[in-house]
Amino acid sequence: MEHVIEECGDPRSIPQDLLYLADPSDEMLNAYVDVSFAFVCRIDREIVGALLMMPTRPFTMEIMNISVREPYWNQGIGRKLIQGAVKKARETGMRKVEIGTGNPGVVQMLLYQKCGFRITGVEFDYFRRCCAEKIIENGIECRDMIRMEMHLDEETQKEG
Ligand SMILES: CC(C)(COP(=O)(O)OP(=O)(O)OC[C@H]1O[C@@H](n2cnc3c(N)ncnc32)[C@H](O)[C@@H]1OP(=O)(O)O)[C@@H](O)C(=O)NCCC(=O)NCCS
Repeated sequence: MEHVIEECGDPRSIPQDLLYLADPSDEMLNAYVDVSFAFVCRIDREIVGALLMMPTRPFTMEIMNISVREPYWNQGIGRKLIQGAVKKARETGMRKVEIGTGNPGVVQMLLYQKCGFRITGVEFDYFRRCCAEKIIENGIECRDMIRMEMHLDEETQKEG
């Protein structure tokens, strides 16, 4: 079935249970949903994937949330959402796009590197500090935040 990737002017119209796949915290979601650019993937008009990206510093945006419904994983939707966001960042004069993922997120790290992001650092114990409850993913504690970034002037050829 055909995927349609498009910018969405009303991030609040994105189903919350979809956004919870990447970020189950209402407090966090509410802090960025209204100040983000949103992209969605629709199949037969149903939103099956979404990405939220907000300006954080001059010339810098951060992808705060990328979520695809599980039956649609591994079909290239995540990659296309990131490509749409990077294009938008470039069009709005940004120089850098950032993204973070938890230490158990090997699939996410593969995806982001395939899209042109590089690992730039680790925020040790980020999740222990910010989350009341221990998060277990892929059989290990999600404890550290892996920080990644893409410099747009260096990555022009990788977007395809
Ligand atoms: C992470 C997520 C957005 C990926 O979306 P997706 O649409 O499945 O990703 P894509 O199909 O575009 O995958 C692109 C690349 O990622 C990698 N990848 C994706 N899923 C993979 C898997 N299960 N195993 C191994 N690699 C995988 C592959 O390297 C793939 O590249 P390829 O096409 O060359 O094989 C999706 O799995 C998801 O929503 N997960 C839950 C929420 C989440 O973890 N969000 C990120 C929080 S940091």
